[in-house]
Order: sequence, then structure tokens, then C-alpha cells
Amino acid sequence: MSQARSHWSNRWTFMLATAGSAIGLGNIWKFPYMTGVNGGSAFVLVFLACIAMVGIPLMMCEIMLGRRAQRNPIDGMHALAQEAGSSRHWKWVGVMGLVAGILILAFYSVIAGWILHYVVEAARGSFIGMDGERSASAFQQFLASPLELAVWHTIFIGMTLGVVARGVNAGLEQANKILMPSLFAILLVLLGYSMSVGDFQAALHFMFTPDFSKVTPTAVLSALGHAFFSLSLGMGAVMVYGSYLQRHVSIARTSIYIALADTLVGLLVGIAIFALVFANHLEPGAGPGLIFQTLPIAFGRMPMGTVMGVLFFVLVAFAAWTSAISLVEPAVAWITENSRLTRKQSAWLIGIADWLLGIAVVLSFNLWQDIRLLFGLGIFDTLDKLTTTIMLPLGGLCMAVFAGWYMKTSHVAEELDISPLAYRAWRFTIRYISPLAIVAIFLYLTGLL
Ligand code: PHE
Repeated sequence: MSQARSHWSNRWTFMLATAGSAIGLGNIWKFPYMTGVNGGSAFVLVFLACIAMVGIPLMMCEIMLGRRAQRNPIDGMHALAQEAGSSRHWKWVGVMGLVAGILILAFYSVIAGWILHYVVEAARGSFIGMDGERSASAFQQFLASPLELAVWHTIFIGMTLGVVARGVNAGLEQANKILMPSLFAILLVLLGYSMSVGDFQAALHFMFTPDFSKVTPTAVLSALGHAFFSLSLGMGAVMVYGSYLQRHVSIARTSIYIALADTLVGLLVGIAIFALVFANHLEPGAGPGLIFQTLPIAFGRMPMGTVMGVLFFVLVAFAAWTSAISLVEPAVAWITENSRLTRKQSAWLIGIADWLLGIAVVLSFNLWQDIRLLFGLGIFDTLDKLTTTIMLPLGGLCMAVFAGWYMKTSHVAEELDISPLAYRAWRFTIRYISPLAIVAIFLYLTGLL
């Protein structure tokens, strides 16, 4: 119990790593296509409201739980429940989070594998002169090849667990210190490019001109679910990162910075992508294929498209990598802290489990595409929906209820260390607003609303 734990070197590395966890495929792949599918600005505005009202308070909550516990999420929830004199069953919140992380990485790694493949394709000049038909058939052909998908998935799992195996300082911290600043730099270059050759006006109009008639219940719910996914909330990734955080760092301020960075990157990438899409008169509502089918056409037609295409997919790969690390850190930390296995061995174990699950995801795009699991969905969609719309919000709900209703007020206040007024506002949100918002999603999902 009292074994010495690693800590981040300083608060900047914690912020970089947590921003690294938050900024990922969710921002660059999912957010733009969800915006496209859900009618643009309506979705963006609701998403921003969800981040502010539920995302930031929950991020503070999760970091607070982790830092107070100083343990992995399972043992951490157990210890905190003991401290609060409540049931030890709270540890199941940690268990669910750990499982969610493993399940998410299974499909996350496959998509990240597509990204790696597209880095190579872009570099080979495959986008040049691409039209809609060729782009779609190249993508379909790639998805139809289990071997190719599996190879890229294997590489990405290796990259992820390779970092996690090296531990908090030499692994997580070091990777984020290199990848995150590179990511920001590439983003600025791409933004400048898209500003000079893309249709910036149309992109801004699409994303920010409010049209409240488009705010449908479905848009609200996908925005709320996405707020969780995008900020990495509800599964213990932020909790385990918080457990490596030193005592004196302000949780409120860092949470706000991280949420801002995450949101800003989503918006900027969205603007950059849509500016290129509109300049080429392409469709914004293409769905998951937006960056794989639509964007290559834009790059293929534009000046410096090859270089910029490579940079874009490298950016996405870096973002995915720093998020993937945080998906398995709770599991690896838990095994390492509870068994005789070394961190390296634990990383191997989780790596193999995720590799196998990922192979099932790979096959769901070709040989197994007719297999239906939950809600009549295929393997990939089942994993995505089960984790994003059920497990993460449920985890977030439990954490909010635990911190708001069960923990001693004095402990929470001591950990957060904010002004009494801010504390009251936070507590109100975590006790009422966040749980109600989450319960609303669930009721809607089960068709009761
Ligand atoms: N936030 C990451 C993204 O936007 C995904 C993620 C979810 C990472 C949950 C960790 C935990 O891509």
C-alpha cells in the first residue's frame, strides 16, 4: 500500500499528458464527422455547452479522486470508499473503467492503424489526382484486406504498449513531451495552409452560424456522449493520471486549461478540414469516411497537397498515440500494483489481450462483417457504442455521485482548494446537473424520453 509511486515531474507534464489523453481520434476523426452529420453549428454549440457544464466539473472530479487516492482506479475507489465509510463495491467503478479502456483500445487501435496506412499513402503521392470514386474504392479495398488492417493494428498496439511499459516518467511523460508540442506545431502549419488555400469563410459559417432549428434530441445526446469521450472522462484514465499528480497543483485551473486545449484543437481541426472540403465542393456529411475518403480528394487537388497530407495524418497519428497510452495505463497500473508482474510484463499481457480483440474488430470490416452483437450492430460499432454511450457516461455518473454525495465535504474541499463560491457551484453541478444530464441520456437511449 505504501509503495513509492512515480509522479509527474511537474504540473506542465501532467497537463501535457492529460491533454494528450484528451486530444485524440475523438477530436480529429469523430468530432468533424459528427459535426458534418449533425448539421454543423447546432452540434458545435451544444457540444461546447456540454463541455462547460458537465465536462469541466467532471474532469475536476476525476482528477480529484485520483490525486486523493494515489492509487490505480480500482484500488483508488476502494480506498476512497473506505475513507468515506461507504461500500467497498465502489471499486466496481474502477473495474468498469479498466475494462472500458481495454475495449476502447481494441477499436481505437484499428482506426489508428488506418491513420498510419494513410501516412504512407499520402507520402507515396497516392492522393494526387484522386477523385471521389477512386478515393472511395481505395478505402474500400483497404478495409477488405484483413491482413493489411491487422499489420497496422499490430504496429499501433506495439507503439502504445511500448511506451506504457517504460513507466510514468520514461514512458508516458517522455512521449507526451515530444509528441504534444509537435502536434501543436503541425496544427498551426495546417491551419495556415487551410487558411490560405481553403474556403475559410464557408467553414466558419458551417461551424458557427447558430441555427437552433437543427438542435435535435439526437444531436444533444451525441454531443454529451462525445464530451465524455473527447475529454477521456468516466473510465479512470484521467483518474490514474491524477494519481501521479503532486499535491500543490491547482486541479480547477488545470482542468479548465485541458478542456480548453481539447476543445480548441477539435474546433481548429474542424475548421481546417471543412475549409479544404468546401473549397473543393465536397460533402461535409460523409460520416466516418470524412478524413479517409473526402479529405484525400482535397489534398490531391491542392498545391503542396502531398506534404500537407502527410503532415495531417502524422498529426492524427500523434494524437491517437498519446490517447491510446492513457487507455491502457489504468489496467497496466492495476496489474503492476497488485501482482508480481513487472510493468513490462503487465504491458505485454494487456497488449496481447487488446491485440486479439482488435483482430476481431479488423475482421468485422471484412470477413465477419455480417456478425451482429448488441443492438444489431457489428463488432466495431458495438464496441464503440457500448463504451462511448454506456460505459463512459455510467462511469462518470458513478464518480459524480460518489464525490458529490458520499465523500466527506471537507476532504473534497481540501483537495480542490478553490473559493467557497466556486466550490458551491462545482458541488451543485456534480450533485445534480451532471447526474441528471447523464440519466437523461440513458432514459432517451432506452426509449423512455
Ligand atoms: N479522448 C480520446 C479522444 O478524443 C479518447 C479517449 C477516451 C482516451 C477515453 C482515453 C479515455 O480520442
